[in-house]
Amino acid sequence: MKETPQQAVLRKLFDRIETLGTISSDTPGLTRVFLSKEMDIASRLIQSWMSNAGLIASVDRMQNVVGSWPAETAHPPAIHIGSHYDTVINAGKYDGPLGVLLSIAAVETLRLEGYEPKHPINVAAFCDEEGVRFRSTFLGSSFFCGTFDTRFLDNVDDAGNSMRSLLELRGFDTSSFNQGTPLIGKDDLFLEAHIEQGPILERLNLSLGVVSGIAAQTRIHVTITGESGHAGTTPLDLRRDALTTAAEMILAVEASFADNPNARATVGQIKNYPNATNAIPGEVEFMIDLRNPVTAGLNQMRDTLLNKLDEIAARRTTEFKAEILQTVDSITCDSNVQQALSKALAKHQERVTTFTSGAGHDALKIAQTCRTGMMFVRCRNGLSHHPDEYCSPKDIEVALAAWVDTLRELDQNFPTPEKANA
Ligand code: GLV
Ligand code: MN
Ligand code: MN
Repeated sequence: MKETPQQAVLRKLFDRIETLGTISSDTPGLTRVFLSKEMDIASRLIQSWMSNAGLIASVDRMQNVVGSWPAETAHPPAIHIGSHYDTVINAGKYDGPLGVLLSIAAVETLRLEGYEPKHPINVAAFCDEEGVRFRSTFLGSSFFCGTFDTRFLDNVDDAGNSMRSLLELRGFDTSSFNQGTPLIGKDDLFLEAHIEQGPILERLNLSLGVVSGIAAQTRIHVTITGESGHAGTTPLDLRRDALTTAAEMILAVEASFADNPNARATVGQIKNYPNATNAIPGEVEFMIDLRNPVTAGLNQMRDTLLNKLDEIAARRTTEFKAEILQTVDSITCDSNVQQALSKALAKHQERVTTFTSGAGHDALKIAQTCRTGMMFVRCRNGLSHHPDEYCSPKDIEVALAAWVDTLRELDQNFPTPEKANA
């Protein structure tokens, strides 16, 4: 039987998820970090898919890929939809790309219907949300909003490459970096579709959910300095072991959210020096990732934890330094966008649930510029940042239908900022 145009949109969506899922610097597994040759390939592919969907595709100086669908009339506020196309190390193929590819497919669907938007619709694929390579996150979406912190240009990766040098290698001009006109304005809307990365939808047996807000987060770089020495001779009382200090600290990080079921604290990266079997570790660096549904809670958690780590270092006669690399406040998603999403989701499933995201998303950063909203798609076992991350084709199909309905609804009944503040 001949494929219908709507079936072709879905098939292309599934194919594109698989294709992007193979563009990786490691095999097996999926790793695609900012300013890598895999990102260059992925960016070209996304541009070609956007063009295929009838969007005007372009790449900005940060390697964000943007596909524009101009409105019928000249200057109404725009609707931006999308997510990121970088990944963590050993990632799954849905975190980020699903939102980008679903958004391209939503435009394809609307164009098939002969729909003509009242508002410009832009599909954005952000270059770095995960912050793996340079330790600072939301690089793509902050550039998109004109709020990129240009000090990050001098951040270096583990191999000593600066972000600036890698951008310039690709021909991106890094002078007067933030002085262009950002594509996104304060009266616009940004909507992101993303896998849930948690177990709530699966437990409720629902394909989709509406996000009410996103937790605050901070990244802290810790350095512990002890003294390296001989493993075979140095007695316990003469040791200043940086790694055993770190071990105790990491357990304290874990314990810091034991009494708060909504907060999270993780050490996911560590470096040990000299890292030799027969040498006492003299220096350790690690990263702490803290999340809390509200900013005040995050700040309190951070201060209590840092005091505790100070106490551990002092007791173990090691030195301790903590550098807060980045903090992003919690946000509430726009109530009108939440309503439009709920209305659209209600057409496709029995019940609609609304909840806060513990994971960070580009919408968290973009909410500092304009009103935002998010739709979550169920993922198996709530698993993410893992190669077994999985969304079923059925859920993706429902997600596409709901995403199209949301977009149409917001384009037709664009909420005014006044209404949003009411
Ligand atoms: C992004 O996935 C984050 O929440 O760190
Ligand atoms: Mn992620
Ligand atoms: Mn993500």
